Parts: sequence; C-alpha cells; structure tokens
Amino acid sequence: MTDRASAAVSAGGAEIPKLGFGTARITGDDCKQAVETALEVGYRHVDTAQMYDNETAVGRAIADSDVARDEIFVVTKVHPDNAAREDVLSSTRASLDRLGLTTVDLLLLHAPSDRAPLEETLGAMNDLQSEGVVDHIGVSNFEVGGLERAREISETPIVTNQVKYHPYHHQDDLLEYCANEGVCLTAYSPLAEGAVPGDDRLLEIGEKYGKSAAQVALRWLVQQPSVAAIPKAASPDHIESNAAVFDFELTDEEMGVVGDLGDGRWQQLAARLGLR
Ligand SMILES: NC(=O)c1ccc[n+]([C@@H]2O[C@H](COP(=O)([O-])OP(=O)(O)OC[C@H]3O[C@@H](n4cnc5c(N)ncnc54)[C@H](OP(=O)(O)O)[C@@H]3O)[C@@H](O)[C@H]2O)c1
Repeated sequence: MTDRASAAVSAGGAEIPKLGFGTARITGDDCKQAVETALEVGYRHVDTAQMYDNETAVGRAIADSDVARDEIFVVTKVHPDNAAREDVLSSTRASLDRLGLTTVDLLLLHAPSDRAPLEETLGAMNDLQSEGVVDHIGVSNFEVGGLERAREISETPIVTNQVKYHPYHHQDDLLEYCANEGVCLTAYSPLAEGAVPGDDRLLEIGEKYGKSAAQVALRWLVQQPSVAAIPKAASPDHIESNAAVFDFELTDEEMGVVGDLGDGRWQQLAARLGLR
C-alpha cells in the first residue's frame, strides 16, 4: 500500500506525484477555488496549460494556499502554435508571469506542431532549463516514434508523455515503451471525461473496498508503476473522493478486469511488463 506522499513516478530525475489535478475547461474563480480545494485535500501536482486560459487562476490558488510552493509539482504546456524558438521562450515567460512563479517543475510541448522542427522547440525548452526557469521538460500527445525522437534530440530527459489513457482507451505500445525506458506516462482524461463514474462493472469491483467506480479507475491507473493520472473535477466532493485512492489495492485479477474493459489486450501487456 502506498501513501500519497510517497506515491510518485521517478523519471529522468523528476519525482512526479502519481495523482495530479487537471484543470482543463475550468477558469477564473471556479478554477482558483477548485485548485485550492485540491491542495487542501492533498493533491501535490497541478496540471495547467497556455491553452486553458487559467494559469492566472492556478497561480492565485497556489499563492493563497497553505501548502508551500516547493511541495507542489506545477506543470504547464507550451501551445503548439508557440513551438518556434522565440515563441517558446516568450510564451513560457508569460506563463510564469501569469502563474506568479519563478519556476515551473515541468514544461510540456502540448502536442506535435508543424510550426517549427522539434529540434528547435526542444532546444528552446532546454535553454529555459539552463536558465533555471523550468526544472524538467516533456511532451504530450506523442506516439512512440515521436517520443523516441524527442528523447534523442533533447539534451535533458523527456520525463513524461501526457496522453489520453483510461480503462476504455488504451496506450499499449506507449505504455510498454515508457515502462521499459523509465519515462512517466501521464494519463489525461483518466475518467473518460465523466463516463467512467457511471460504470457498473467498476462499481462492482469497488464495492468490497467501499470505493466508487471513479476511484477504482483512478486506482487502476496509479497502481501501474510508470503511470500518473490527472483527473479534473469542479465539484468539491469529486475533488476529494478522487484523491482517496491510496488506501486500497486492486488484486491482479481486478487490475486485469479493469484493463480489459477496453479491448481485452491489457492483461497480455501486463503479463509482458511483469505487472502481474
Ligand atoms: N494534454 C492534453 O492534450 C490534454 C487533453 C485533455 C485533458 N488534459 C488534462 O487532463 C485533465 C483531465 O482530463 P479531462 O478534464 O478531459 O477529463 P476527466 O478528468 O477524465 O473527467 C472530468 C469530468 O469527470 C467528472 N468527474 C470527476 N470526478 C468525478 C467523480 N468522482 N464522480 C463523477 N464525475 C466525476 C467531472 O465533473 P465535475 O467537473 O462536475 O466535478 C468532469 O466532468 C484535464 O483537466 C487536463 O488537465 C490534457
């Protein structure tokens, strides 16, 4: 059993808390309130992006929280339109200003971009690391080939690839690659954008632990060694209950059942990766 404080994925020198708070599609005071609640109930990883139009609200929540800045793993993402060198540099500085922070723990390229060669984008991200305003870098929405290339190009480790991953949407190739190469796979939309919480099959597994369907799906993700998950919730009840996933453990059989809600191939992969 893991406690929340020690539940992190170690990747390329980064310690990425396995549970993060997603903030897409929530802005202004609603976002500030949600992030404050998340920090209060124990989240120590907050995910924002230039695209979400909420970095100011996230920064205000961090500033007003009782949790020390250095205990919070703050992630933001360069908009794909800002992939050219000067835009990476200026837009990241603007992100830091909006966040009211001197550094971010992790800067991601939000998605592959045709605005600039990957060498140029990652070169600028590496320079921001040398300057000390970014601790770690990573990518998002990359397939295995792109991730491999990014790792070859970057002077520093690509610590994560943030991609859609939940019980109905698998990432077999990427998961295998990340597990073998020591890269974190950060699962976005881990609740299938709200579809998971109503799943009777997950609810049934949760009954013996007194856990909801959403908690079973999140537990399934964070119980995989190289995976972190970043559920979003606006409702305080959801924010709190989504964090209560470190006091129970799914059996190998249950891990397989949840994994195979999608397409039936997860158990084979888990066996190959030694997850069971
Ligand atoms: N890198 C990328 O391209 C990318 C793309 C998509 C998302 N993301 C990141 O991943 C985060 C999460 O993904 P997401 O926002 O798409 O979807 P999600 O986390 O899978 O689902 C969020 C939805 O589930 C509901 N919900 C949350 N907890 C619940 C619970 N315990 N019971 C019932 N309903 C619950 C929320 O409702 P309420 O809000 O009403 O509580 C919300 O409607 C985003 O916020 C963002 O940070 C990244």
